[in-house]
Amino acid sequence: MIQIKTDEDIEMMRESAELAAEVLLMIEPYAKPGVTTNRLNDLCHDLIVSRGAVPSPLGYKGFPKSICSSINNEICHGIPSDRKLRNGDIVNLDITTYLNGFHGDTSKTIHVGSPRPKSSRLVETCREALQKAIEVVRPGAHFGDIGATIQTFTEGRGYSVVREFCGHGIGRSFHEDPQVLHFGRFGEGAELKKGMVFTIEPMINEGKCDLEILSDKWTAVTKDGSRSAQFEHTVAVWDDGCKVLTRLDGKTTF
Ligand code: MF3
Ligand code: CO
Ligand code: CO
Repeated sequence: MIQIKTDEDIEMMRESAELAAEVLLMIEPYAKPGVTTNRLNDLCHDLIVSRGAVPSPLGYKGFPKSICSSINNEICHGIPSDRKLRNGDIVNLDITTYLNGFHGDTSKTIHVGSPRPKSSRLVETCREALQKAIEVVRPGAHFGDIGATIQTFTEGRGYSVVREFCGHGIGRSFHEDPQVLHFGRFGEGAELKKGMVFTIEPMINEGKCDLEILSDKWTAVTKDGSRSAQFEHTVAVWDDGCKVLTRLDGKTTF
């Protein structure tokens, strides 16, 4: 069942979502060559806790850290560690906060040091795919429109869309109905209604879409070793469009 949130719920959610966005904005300048992903984790953890919030990933189904950090061929759910970021890496940092009784979820892929042109095209395509998907969100549209928009744009650029992970309803729980697929057909799937709140978080690969899970039971990597990018926003369906709850107006962000 897809929940409908009240205006009050959505305003409460906005605070949590904006905190997640603020954490992402704070951490980006630290993602430089030589920094460990543990250090990024700890900085995010401390900011979240200092605001009276809780990092949602910590302890979620046994996840051991407060953020996800996924480097290069890692698609998602990478576990922060003592691995140091290197010049030319790309790293997705995924921040989820729990505040006011609601979760907010956002992520972006960042270039470490000097961007590689080949990776810039991948990352920029993913960012644009999310933006184009957000633009189709309005009452009366269908979830399939979101998936089809992402799939056609991404595949048109020669990349593949990850199938095994999807966006999700979000609210009092981290992951709620529905599953928001990043592929599909226009006009198919449930109809969007005002008050639905969900994430859109496409993962796209330079090579094939196939993945493997590492022995840590969390980290998803591309089977062919190619690089993968991801961007994520939490959106609320609104009168004739949507509110992007994880976007901070007036600040440089995606
Ligand atoms: N933030 C991820 C998402 O976008 C979920 C991470 S679950 C975790 O849905 F346990 F790995 F943190
Ligand atoms: Co999510
Ligand atoms: Co996330």
